Amino acid sequence: MSALSEHVLEEIRELPAKYPQHRSAVMPALDLAQEELGYLTPEAMSEVASALQLDPGYIEGVATFYTLFHLGPIGKHRFYMCTNLSCTLRGANEMVDHLKGAIGVREAEQVSKDGLFSYEEVECLGACEYAPVARLDRRYQVDLTPQKIDALVAERRNPKPEAPHPAAKEEEWLSREGPSAGLSSRSGSRPPTCTSSTSTNPSAATRPRARCSRR
Ligand code: FES
Repeated sequence: MSALSEHVLEEIRELPAKYPQHRSAVMPALDLAQEELGYLTPEAMSEVASALQLDPGYIEGVATFYTLFHLGPIGKHRFYMCTNLSCTLRGANEMVDHLKGAIGVREAEQVSKDGLFSYEEVECLGACEYAPVARLDRRYQVDLTPQKIDALVAERRNPKPEAPHPAAKEEEWLSREGPSAGLSSRSGSRPPTCTSSTSTNPSAATRPRARCSRR
């Protein structure tokens, strides 16, 4: 049985056509594989190699070079804790120590018992003016304090139900009131919905795809 789904393999096979250089498809392909499995297994890397018709050694070389590719299990929510100069001067090491206690791990790469959390220390995330900074679930968490870390961990342990999409509210209102309540019928048309934004940029896997959060 293959490690990657046929759907993902198909997406990977289509990638090279989007780039002038065939090899530019490697990083987005590994990104897709990691998104599906959580981390890159040897089987997944070899399937990526065969889907792109490239040497497996080359694929493995790329996967092992970039730290945002994971070669072993990681927590569902991974903290990327910046411990570069500006963040360290503003207490990054204390934040790392606090995080370890909050999620119950002794060291980087260890996964918490509930499988929800892991962390790693990273170089500058490019948001030094908000130090200390971490990246979590593709968002930046800035001006970190122990209290903020506790809140982030608690939110993920007990996630709140997601608020309904505004489009869903409109549909609900339409079905309650019906077109006779003053709306003209838009048969066959649907309210706009968000589209997914999976990046195919070859450098996307190496840089934070994140928005700042100052909660
Ligand atoms: S040193 Fe931490 S974001 Fe730059």
